[in-house]
Amino acid sequence: MKNKFKIYLKDCSGLEEIESSSVDAVITDPPYGISFQNNRWDKALPDRKIWADCLRVLKPGSFVLVFSSVRLLHRLMADIEDTGFIIKDILFWAFLNGMPKSRNVALEIDAESGIESKVIGKYSYVQGYKKGGADSYKNQGEKLKYEPVSGSGKKYKGAGLGIKPAYEPIIMVQKPMETKLTVAQNVIKFGTGALNIDATRIPYARGEKKVGHNPHPGGRVTSNILRTDEFGDGYDKFFLVPKVRQHTEEYNYHPTIKPVDLMLHLTKLITFENHLVLDPFMGTGSTGLACIDLNRGFIGYENDPGYFKIAKKRFKEKS
Ligand SMILES: C[S@@+](CC[C@H](N)C(=O)[O-])C[C@H]1O[C@@H](n2cnc3c(N)ncnc32)[C@H](O)[C@@H]1O
Repeated sequence: MKNKFKIYLKDCSGLEEIESSSVDAVITDPPYGISFQNNRWDKALPDRKIWADCLRVLKPGSFVLVFSSVRLLHRLMADIEDTGFIIKDILFWAFLNGMPKSRNVALEIDAESGIESKVIGKYSYVQGYKKGGADSYKNQGEKLKYEPVSGSGKKYKGAGLGIKPAYEPIIMVQKPMETKLTVAQNVIKFGTGALNIDATRIPYARGEKKVGHNPHPGGRVTSNILRTDEFGDGYDKFFLVPKVRQHTEEYNYHPTIKPVDLMLHLTKLITFENHLVLDPFMGTGSTGLACIDLNRGFIGYENDPGYFKIAKKRFKEKS
C-alpha cells in the first residue's frame, strides 16, 4: 500500500498524532446523540472541539462530509459552522424501508383511563437479525391486535407520535481557502478546494431523451439526493445504494454500519487520487475500506476495542 494508512484505538479528541494542514478530507459517521438502540456511545453528539481539531489538520479548501440524524442536524451543523467551516450542502440519503417510531396513542388513553383495550385479532411480525446471518430473525411470531374501547380512546383512534423516516442527512462543509487565494490558486497550492465531479457522474439511461443541453459523455452531475430504492420515474437520475444489514459480515455486529458503496461514492466526490482521508469515528472502518479501493490514504480513530478489532479484520481481508 503506497498511501499512508494508520488507525488508532483511542479517543479522537485532539487528533494529536496528525500534523496541521496535512489531511485532504474528513468523511465521518459520528455519534448522532439519539441513544440509538441504547448504545452508550450514541448518548450525546461529539464534543464540538473535535470539529476544531479537524479544521486544524485539514488543508485549506478541503471538504468534509458528516452523517447526521434528522433530529439533531441543526445542533451538529451549528457546532461545525461555529468552528469556522463553511456550510456547502446537505446530501439526502433517501430510503423507503425506514421504520416509523410511533406509538398507539388511543390504546395508551385506554390504559390511562384504566380500561382494557379490545383484542380484535393477531398479526405476524419479524424483528432484528440474529448474529448467525442476515436471514435468521432474532424475533418473530404473532402479536395481538387491539382496538380502543374508552370514549377518548375511540376519538383518538389512529393517533400516533412519529412519521416514517425516509432519509438520512449528510452535511457537506468546507474549510475556507487560504486568505487571498482564488479557487485555482488554492487547488494548485494544496490539491484541495474542488469537488471531483467527473468521478461521481450518473450515467444516462439507455434511450433517455436529453432535450436542450449538451450531454456530458460521463453522465449527469451527481445530485444531493442519494437513494436506496428506485424512485419510479424510470430513469436513473440519482446514485443508488442499498442499506446494509447488521451481520452482513457474520462477525460485524456494529449497529450502524454504513454501506461501503456509499462511502466509495462520497470519497470519490470530495477527494482525488492519493488524497489522505480522516475518519475520527471510524466504527468498523467502512470509510477506510473505500479509501483502500480508491487509492486514498486513510487515518481512522475508534475508541471501542470490539469495533476496532472488526475494522482491523475488514482491512486485512481487503488488502
Ligand atoms: C456511528 S458509528 C460509525 C460506524 C461506521 N460508519 C461503520 O460503518 O462501522 C460511530 C463510532 O464512533 C465511535 N466513537 C464515539 N466517540 C468516539 C470518540 N470520542 N473517539 C473515537 N471513537 C468514538 C463509536 O464507538 C462508534 O463505533
